[in-house]
Amino acid sequence: MKYQEKYNFSIHNKEQFWAEQANKIAWFKKPETILSQDEDGFYRWFKGGKLNTSYLALDFHVENGRGEQDALIYDSPATNSVKKYTFRELRDAVAKLAGGLKSLGVEKGDTVVIYMPMVPEAAMAMLACARLGAIHSVVFGGFAPHELAIRIDDAKPKIIISASCGIEFDKVIPYKPLLDHAIEMAEFKPNYAVILQRPQAEASMKEGHDIDFIELQNNAEPADCVEVDATDPLYILYTSGTTGKPKGIVRDNGGHAVAMHYSMQDIYNVQTGNVFWAASDIGWVVGHSYIIYAPLIYGCTTVFFEGKPIRTPDAGTFWRVIADHKVNCFFTAPTAFRAIRKEDPEVELMKKYDLSSLKSIFVAGERCDPSTLLWLKDISKLPVIDHWWQTETGWGIVANMMGVEAFPVKVGSATKPVCGFELKILNEAGEELKANEEGFICIKLPMAPGCLPTLWNDDTRFKESYLSTFEGYYLTGDGGYIDEEGYVYVMGRIDDVINVAGHRLSTGEMEEIIASHPAVAECAVVGIADELRGQRPIGFIVLKDGQTIDEDNLEKETIALIRDQIGAVAFYRNTILVKRLPKTRSGKILRKVIRQLSDAVPFTIPSTIDDPIILDEIKQRLIERKIGKVAN
Ligand code: COA
Ligand code: AMP
Repeated sequence: MKYQEKYNFSIHNKEQFWAEQANKIAWFKKPETILSQDEDGFYRWFKGGKLNTSYLALDFHVENGRGEQDALIYDSPATNSVKKYTFRELRDAVAKLAGGLKSLGVEKGDTVVIYMPMVPEAAMAMLACARLGAIHSVVFGGFAPHELAIRIDDAKPKIIISASCGIEFDKVIPYKPLLDHAIEMAEFKPNYAVILQRPQAEASMKEGHDIDFIELQNNAEPADCVEVDATDPLYILYTSGTTGKPKGIVRDNGGHAVAMHYSMQDIYNVQTGNVFWAASDIGWVVGHSYIIYAPLIYGCTTVFFEGKPIRTPDAGTFWRVIADHKVNCFFTAPTAFRAIRKEDPEVELMKKYDLSSLKSIFVAGERCDPSTLLWLKDISKLPVIDHWWQTETGWGIVANMMGVEAFPVKVGSATKPVCGFELKILNEAGEELKANEEGFICIKLPMAPGCLPTLWNDDTRFKESYLSTFEGYYLTGDGGYIDEEGYVYVMGRIDDVINVAGHRLSTGEMEEIIASHPAVAECAVVGIADELRGQRPIGFIVLKDGQTIDEDNLEKETIALIRDQIGAVAFYRNTILVKRLPKTRSGKILRKVIRQLSDAVPFTIPSTIDDPIILDEIKQRLIERKIGKVAN
């Protein structure tokens, strides 16, 4: 079936379409209803269905003749090692770890926080939770203790699983002190911390509280898969919203498993048994969906990479891994390719590898700039597919569906809506816009399976953030347009969320942190264009009356605050002192205008601006400090 026909069917015969997809996974009990609404009116997929996600990812394959196929290949230039696990080996390791967790009291419905670097034990921890019907919440290893503490307080985990250290290029980062600090800061106290000791930096353990991961796993009785409802949560993944409190995105078991399976077939066009590699981190949604769940559920081998696109040891690492493990489909963030291109523009390092296994390259996580996309297409001679999605959806909303019909790529567009997602571009009044008119990208409810049913313990915020702006629609938070051929162009966030090296961060949160500095009267943090990272945050600060701190010191202190409270990943490097901030007459800070001015993109001065002269001061200060495109 060609795209248009299949897509139309998925929209007009939603239940039939998804019932057919649901038939492709092994339920313990098939769902009673395909689509329903719960008591709050939220849509739920596959109610009455019983399954276990860890079973689908592991045991199912062992029982169906794939036990000796590699399930996970851990390739770690960070530690100079490669280790392979077959489906049987991974299933056994996960079952034993699950047994260990069970012995610590973890049961169906409990939450477990996982704060780990890219080691295979992190994958085991996620799958072990899923096996027990416990809800995992992975926190990105690059987040500072303060961020971890916020998540501990919200998720209230019975236990935390972590490792003694992570490795960033040649830097060994001890995790245990960060973990201890976070637990100290959090009001909620988990019962135990299960720690994987890594030889690069062993952690000191607290008797009675800290448990050795390997000992726990080795000494445990294997645990069986616990049957859960399709609508039970599989995991919570916190993502940045517009305030300091991250949003706990909930993922259910049934809709997620069906969506993961379907996406491998129709978006990524891979076959069971293929090798799939998503170079990301388990701390992000790409890591959840395409390092762990989708490839394993689909019976693919997943590559689990602990390294960077460059300097581990060089910009040829990605090509080396693709050749060594005969990767068929590769997925990463555009930033990674920008980093490679900067170091090795002529891809000299690529030439020594046999990349004949590779059939396609997918990018997502941030807008892919046309120059990177064209370069990648040119050097790889392969389809390069930009696709758009977010933590909330868990999988692609717009893509070139390679398993259905490959469309010619239009640079700057993620191509067409994925089956099951009905997109509309709305204006502020909620009216549908015509082709090529830019507005709010919205998804008509119900969304496809796999998308968030709600926020963890916060139905009200779920409604307010996503459902209440336009009745009957989910607000994606991105702006863009659809052209006359149905290609979707995602132009960027319409809120205070920015994307730094593929990491989603909140400028609102950074403002809250900076505002805690005693000298600061008010501030605005905006994401300006950055050649490597796509965007990076900079802060504009107005001092309180009588404060005399100079710009250099204020910059150092605010950098330290952000680093300490969010983490180095925020990549906050510049603070600029200004006398006033540009505002509307009603007092709203015009952040978008500051960003446009910094990026030297043409803009119209809003008619509501209080005093346009302030913009000249901002421009002057950026030029003096040589910051932003406006200074070039
Ligand atoms: N744990 C601890 N610290 C981390 C971290 C982690 N997992 N990830 C990043 N950091 C730290 C870095 O060490 C760096 O610290 P420093 O300021 O002390 O040097 C800081 O955060 C900034 O990191 P980053 O912006 O990543 O810069 P970088 O120079 O270390 O690396 C790239 C640049 C492009 C190589 C890297 O950003 C990259 O690989 N990007 C791809 C991102 C990606 O895959 N995203 C997933 C979404 S799909
Ligand atoms: P995250 O939730 O971390 O996956 O970030 C989601 C946000 O990243 C989206 O709302 C977009 O703003 C941006 N994003 C992700 N993929 C793309 C893409 N292919 N094109 C443009 N923006 C993207």
